[in-house]
Amino acid sequence: MTQVRGSSDFDSRQFRTAMGQFCTGVTVITTTDENDTPTGFACQSFAALSLDPPLVLFAPMKTSRSWPIVERAGKFCVNVLSTAQQEVSATFGSRGDDKFAKIGWERSPLGLPVIDHVLTWADCTVEQVVDGGDHYIVIGRVHTLGEILQDRPLLFYRGGYLSTEHPHVTPAQAELENFLTWTGQDTWL
Ligand SMILES: Cc1cc2nc3c(=O)[nH]c(=O)nc-3n(C[C@H](O)[C@H](O)[C@H](O)COP(=O)(O)O)c2cc1C
Repeated sequence: MTQVRGSSDFDSRQFRTAMGQFCTGVTVITTTDENDTPTGFACQSFAALSLDPPLVLFAPMKTSRSWPIVERAGKFCVNVLSTAQQEVSATFGSRGDDKFAKIGWERSPLGLPVIDHVLTWADCTVEQVVDGGDHYIVIGRVHTLGEILQDRPLLFYRGGYLSTEHPHVTPAQAELENFLTWTGQDTWL
């Protein structure tokens, strides 16, 4: 048996490059502070975690200015960005003071910002926070799911934005039927 070659002597740039091969969507995690001022940050490290109970997770950097505000509020809203929302991602991916200045939004049932024209959103409360090196891993319980906009997602790949040019989803194998994000025939594409 031959062995595939790899490197255990990698630096952070090589680590980033390797991890950048994994394509994700882009979310904006929003919340409000004690003065009810909206805040949020762009976040690709989002995942659906559990079906029963309904849990999700995301990983904020320990240096994030939004994270302590989410922690204090104990709740957050996950906004899933569409392909047209690259600008929104750039705004929330920066350290600006008033990221909502040019953003249209409404309140969710938990009173959190739902950004206009997102693919969908989910209202969550913080369930657990786990240490994750220079990040935290935040587990949230989903309370309300927003409506689904029939549009394409904004994707993040190799450190840049990408969009699905061909709106065609190849069905995965049937054994995935019980997998969390499996939608079976119930897909719009
Ligand atoms: C597409 C994209 C994905 C990002 N994903 C994450 C992430 O998963 N976790 C994180 O902590 N920061 C992520 N960031 C970086 C933060 O959005 C950025 O550091 C932002 O300035 C943080 O704002 P804050 O300090 O107000 O929280 C991402 C940025 C972009 C543009």
